[in-house]
Amino acid sequence: MNYPKHVQIVEVGPRDGLQNEKQEIPASVKIELINKLSAAGFHNVESGSFVSPKWVPQMATSADVFAGIARKPGVIYSALTPNMKGFEGALAAGAHEVVIFGAASEAFSQKNINCSIAESIERFRPVAAAAKANNIRVRAAISCAYGCPYQGEVSIASVIDCLERFAEMGCEDIGIADTIGVGTPALVYETLSAAAKAFPVEKISGHYHDTYGMACANVLASLEVGVATFDTSVAGLGGCPYAKGATGNVATEDVLYMLHGMGITTGIDLDAVCEAGQFISQALGRAPHSRVNRALAAKRAG
Ligand code: HMG
Ligand code: MG
Repeated sequence: MNYPKHVQIVEVGPRDGLQNEKQEIPASVKIELINKLSAAGFHNVESGSFVSPKWVPQMATSADVFAGIARKPGVIYSALTPNMKGFEGALAAGAHEVVIFGAASEAFSQKNINCSIAESIERFRPVAAAAKANNIRVRAAISCAYGCPYQGEVSIASVIDCLERFAEMGCEDIGIADTIGVGTPALVYETLSAAAKAFPVEKISGHYHDTYGMACANVLASLEVGVATFDTSVAGLGGCPYAKGATGNVATEDVLYMLHGMGITTGIDLDAVCEAGQFISQALGRAPHSRVNRALAAKRAG
């Protein structure tokens, strides 16, 4: 199999990982986590969201977080921005990349961002244009590409339709997301093969929640298509407040262990990520969800 030789990992733990946590996490803890992750070698750390604090209270501290981090040269600190108000927040905070997040499912679009897919595209258009005017990268996310918690099945055609709209806006990267972790490798392969016909494969990324334990297998299926960028979350933290029952993103440690074991480089220090995973898990009062993190901790201890 002809896998990519190098893979880029976008660490989304500080955003996707923490957004669904009910307990208040001080900005200082988020800042320390982001600093540990930057030191571990990620090229992109998704560090917060400029969304309504009524909708996602945990992300209300994002401006403080961006103000407090020790920025490592070369690292992209990215943020979610659903509309122009969010973009202005991200611009003021000095985010290097904004993420506009739509959905392939009409029902999820309504629940997550309170508008139809078509309305969301009209809201994203000025965000993408303003980002370009300010030399800020634009990434897009397509939620519910493999299934929706409200409407069930989602067609590949609706994923491609959404992808084409984001492509037309000039997005530098388009992430195809399994929000509720229901996808299986053959469907991932089929979807990404169709996506790669509509948009350059090197600008497509995979975002897998691990609810059904399929995420590493889905990363492998993506590699087979030539996709070489993935969003992962330290310690396997995460979930979306508007996708009930969905668990965290695929754990960064698990993906790194798999990739490095296959001889694929990432530029990321797995031990340093494990340490960051232990740090945030202790702060949350639980063990890391990452099996690799737990296995390596047991090996070190014993
Ligand atoms: P809305 O209520 O329709 O917004 O929410 P509105 O424009 O009518 O404004 C209502 C109020 O919200 C106003 O304040 C606005 O100022 C304020 P008020 O006058 O009532 O005091 N407001 C904002 N405040 C801060 N920042 C903003 C902002 N915009 C409006 N940007 C809105 C629409 C999009 C704002 C809301 O639905 C929202 O914030 N949704 C965010 C949901 C979210 O963050 N979900 C999780 C992230 S997506 C995800 O996890 C999926 C992903 O990981 C991929 C995957 O796994 O699928 C990316
Ligand atoms: Mg997600």
